Amino acid sequence: MCGIVGVLSNHEASPILVEALKRLEYRGYDSAGIATVNAGVLDRRRAVGKLVNLSDLLVHEPLPGKAGIGHTRWATHGAPSVTNAHPHQAGPVAVVHNGIIENFRELREELASHGIQFVTETDTETVALLAQHYMQNGTRPQEAAFKALDRLRGAFALAFLFSGHDDLIVAARRGSPLAIGHGDGEMYVGSDAIALAPLTNQISYLEEGDRAVVTRHSLEIWDADGTPVTRVKKTIEVDGARIDKAGHKHFMAKEIAEQPGVIARALGHYLSEDGQITLPGPGIDFTAVDRLTMVACGTAYYACLTAKYWFEQIARMPVEVDVASEFRYREPPVPTRTAALFVSQSGETADTLAALRYCTGKADQILSVINAPESSIARESDAVLPIHAGVEVGVASTKAFTCQLTVLFILALKAAQDRGEITTNRRADLVACLRGLPNIISTALGGNAEMQQTALRLSEARDVLFLGRGLMYPIALEGALKLKEISYIHAEAYAAGELKHGPIALIDKQVPVVVMAPRDALFEKTLSNMQEVMAREGRVILVSDAKGIREFGEGAYATLEMPQIDDLLTPILYAIPAQLLAYHTAVAKGTDVDQPRNLAKSVTVE
Ligand code: F6R
Repeated sequence: MCGIVGVLSNHEASPILVEALKRLEYRGYDSAGIATVNAGVLDRRRAVGKLVNLSDLLVHEPLPGKAGIGHTRWATHGAPSVTNAHPHQAGPVAVVHNGIIENFRELREELASHGIQFVTETDTETVALLAQHYMQNGTRPQEAAFKALDRLRGAFALAFLFSGHDDLIVAARRGSPLAIGHGDGEMYVGSDAIALAPLTNQISYLEEGDRAVVTRHSLEIWDADGTPVTRVKKTIEVDGARIDKAGHKHFMAKEIAEQPGVIARALGHYLSEDGQITLPGPGIDFTAVDRLTMVACGTAYYACLTAKYWFEQIARMPVEVDVASEFRYREPPVPTRTAALFVSQSGETADTLAALRYCTGKADQILSVINAPESSIARESDAVLPIHAGVEVGVASTKAFTCQLTVLFILALKAAQDRGEITTNRRADLVACLRGLPNIISTALGGNAEMQQTALRLSEARDVLFLGRGLMYPIALEGALKLKEISYIHAEAYAAGELKHGPIALIDKQVPVVVMAPRDALFEKTLSNMQEVMAREGRVILVSDAKGIREFGEGAYATLEMPQIDDLLTPILYAIPAQLLAYHTAVAKGTDVDQPRNLAKSVTVE
């Protein structure tokens, strides 16, 4: 998942590299490092932990030079340490890498047989050592790097820098994204266009298997077959301004608060003034397919799980949902007249991308619901449905989730309409409810203080259970995921009806049970499950609407009141308490809310 960057500048490279790495820190924060070439000399600085540690180091030990590469790490091979931090250097070669070199053991053995010593536990060091090994026979840097690349199996985005060459970066992409930025007499390399946004909006994306030789005034690219190619230079619309917290304590708080605005923006893109659904680009004709396969990871997977209920209930369309890491290796049959839909905030999740590639050529249509329109998943889809959530910095996904849900709901409505499964009046009612969603979410956000109080109780728990039935089941799963990832409290979610098939054994008075239960058609069923919990001294935190709380709130340990909304739209609304409970619990526990331990925002390794 790491982030990589490279610059061939006319100014000092260090501050540029650090600034770009700041914008890539969402990819990992186990360590950070940079290397530069100055007067022909290759040197580097590296620090464990967040980028700020590298910045501090650079104050005391500046690194001059106008050509450089940089890295922010999410550890795969080897613990987070200075030795294992990138850039890895072997004599005249320094390398930064995002991905995993799968055959590194075999390559290490081969290099060791030549008497070559290793100093790190990483797979990446092998790449630097291989290139150095090839350079020893007098091979030029570019050819040595290409020879090293020929030997690699696995996934990578790589950038090489060489001593004695302050106008050269060799870059390569296989499996992990890489963008080349064009400046005015300067060139840049980065894991994404966001990293390069303050420097340029002129971007060429490398394709799978591409290798590039970059100088300040030239860019040469060869494709996977070694044929020289050009890759179009696109003007990218990414805001280069520093992304700030806008007065909030955390990015996550800011992103939670932004939801009414970003959902309104998404609605504006998908609903015309007269309430018609307008899909971007080629869209999708749901009369041409009979079933939908939806694939994603983590929170995006829970968005798919929610959408399954919608597609089945509103459009009467069979839907399969799977986590990408399972789907990709199961080799499931993809029947004819199937549309495959991939949901991803980053658009770079390695497993989701691999699942998409598995379906390419098998499914009738490849659709994606993404937040990053220039991402690999977007670029490999037949039709792209952007969620318009804006940049999401907090590692725990919040506004992207509710925007994914909003777009998926509109897609389910479109399917219902195309398949003749919805009356005009019901469709108009639902569109009207959708339009009211931003206001209702604002009302729900107004309950922040109550959430904070309840979270204080959760913060003392060792385990927390979440229960939900029907459309609330995926939201219970999302609530549990949010809580565990940022507060480190063990949390599990169950379909309420499953409780008595095992998990009820966990209930005692130490275990808070968050029950997501709007007063809908399934409320009474869930109510019975709540009673089963309370009969065993479990502490129920009931999240419901006024009616639900009036009818059942009395015996609960705590109640959280949500505004009233059409039953079908409750998942989008009830995502708010799921997020706020997790957020305030994490704040009460004093954890690192925006960059929780062991996690990264963009999961580009499997
Ligand atoms: C949880 C979270 C992750 C992501 C997952 C998929 O808060 O953010 O579970 O949802 O890693 O990421 P994307 O959506 O980028 O494919």
